Amino acid sequence: MTGDEIIALSKKHTISEWAVQGTVDPIPVERAEGIYFWTPEGKRYIDFNSQLMCVNIGHGDPRVVKAIQEQAARLCYVTPGGMTTEPRARLGAKLATLTPGDIDTFFFTNGGAEAIENAFKIARAVTGRQKIMARHRSYHGATAAAMAATGEPRAWSQPPMPGFIHVLDWYHGVDRPLDTAEQSLRYLEEVIQLEGPSTIAAFILESVTGTNGILIPPDGYMQGVRALCDRHGILMIADEVMSGFGRTGEWFAIDHWKVVPDIMTMAKGITSAYVPLGAVGIRRKIADYFKDKPFPGGLTYSSHALACAAALATIGVYEEDRLIERARNTGTLMADLLTEVAARHPSVGAVRSIGLFGVIELIRNRKTREPMAPFNGTSPEMGALGRFFRQEGLFTLVRWNYFFTNPPLTITEAELREAFAIIDRGLAITDKAVG
Ligand SMILES: Cc1ncc(COP(=O)(O)O)c(C=O)c1O
Repeated sequence: MTGDEIIALSKKHTISEWAVQGTVDPIPVERAEGIYFWTPEGKRYIDFNSQLMCVNIGHGDPRVVKAIQEQAARLCYVTPGGMTTEPRARLGAKLATLTPGDIDTFFFTNGGAEAIENAFKIARAVTGRQKIMARHRSYHGATAAAMAATGEPRAWSQPPMPGFIHVLDWYHGVDRPLDTAEQSLRYLEEVIQLEGPSTIAAFILESVTGTNGILIPPDGYMQGVRALCDRHGILMIADEVMSGFGRTGEWFAIDHWKVVPDIMTMAKGITSAYVPLGAVGIRRKIADYFKDKPFPGGLTYSSHALACAAALATIGVYEEDRLIERARNTGTLMADLLTEVAARHPSVGAVRSIGLFGVIELIRNRKTREPMAPFNGTSPEMGALGRFFRQEGLFTLVRWNYFFTNPPLTITEAELREAFAIIDRGLAITDKAVG
């Protein structure tokens, strides 16, 4: 099919995620390799967002493709409750060696949102408490409870669900000052006190906030959250769906602060999205709780053999190619390139990155620091920047007043510079709007 035929048929018969259907303009993609993908007509794009921040090992790694093919030929699926398989067994054991502290037991799902749903069920069962505390400027998925925990406009269309509390973090927008870790923790403790600690089952937080702007916690914040949770018997859920598997230069973002959460949710990079898979990791004391009580969850496709085999092969690639270390090193170069871009372009109001998880926030006024597009909105300049990137063959997410720099961890220095050269030219568009 031609690109136009794929687009026309997709628009006629399929729903595009989160979008006003009449306005969608998808890129037709035929194949992908490494950090690049191509349309049927041969236009090449740099994948500067690893698709949805998930193809961490890059596209088309033959080791993962082979593992999927071999597993498919042997066994695709068995009933998860009553049967088990070698890939499932091996993946649980392997993850136990990678995840922090005594997290050593895993429940496998089909993706991130289902991992979140099950994390809440686990926390409520174990604590006997009902409330879930979550943060504004967060995304936890599109299923019911994951949406209720989500603290951003994608959740606005959903009915509010009892039992969810939202708190602010240290970041309040590019035009306002940041809070310190101490201020943020004081506020958090006050909310816990006023809500009633004995009513709160868990506090869920992205270890580094992803879609809402690569918000990297100040030192002391995560350790402080851990201490608050311990003091009040609240379980700490680290959502590592986007920040896990090397993205930040550690296996998991929470590792930067040497904090062990009680529950950890994962997806995306676990298979680099070659096959859908999510997981909830739990500490030993939580796993022990279910020794003599039923686990409150199950899915037809839990522990899918094909997905578990893909995850094992993907983890093999991270290890064989030392991708975690590589993300850390290339991340240092990316931080330098971001700093250079910020120095050169008046429309750049802030840059943030950790490993290969980065963002550029744009402003239209150096004094007031007014964002280039309003919260939950767009502007002609942001629209023009997005079109420029697409025309130049750079794929990344442009959202509100910011855009991401989240390439596959395999990106080379030359490829990174190639992408930043396009960004550099694109920012001339937004620079013109700076008053
Ligand atoms: C931090 C975080 N949690 C949960 C999810 C939901 O994952 P999924 O889309 O696989 O359901 C996402 C998706 O982007 C995410 O970024």
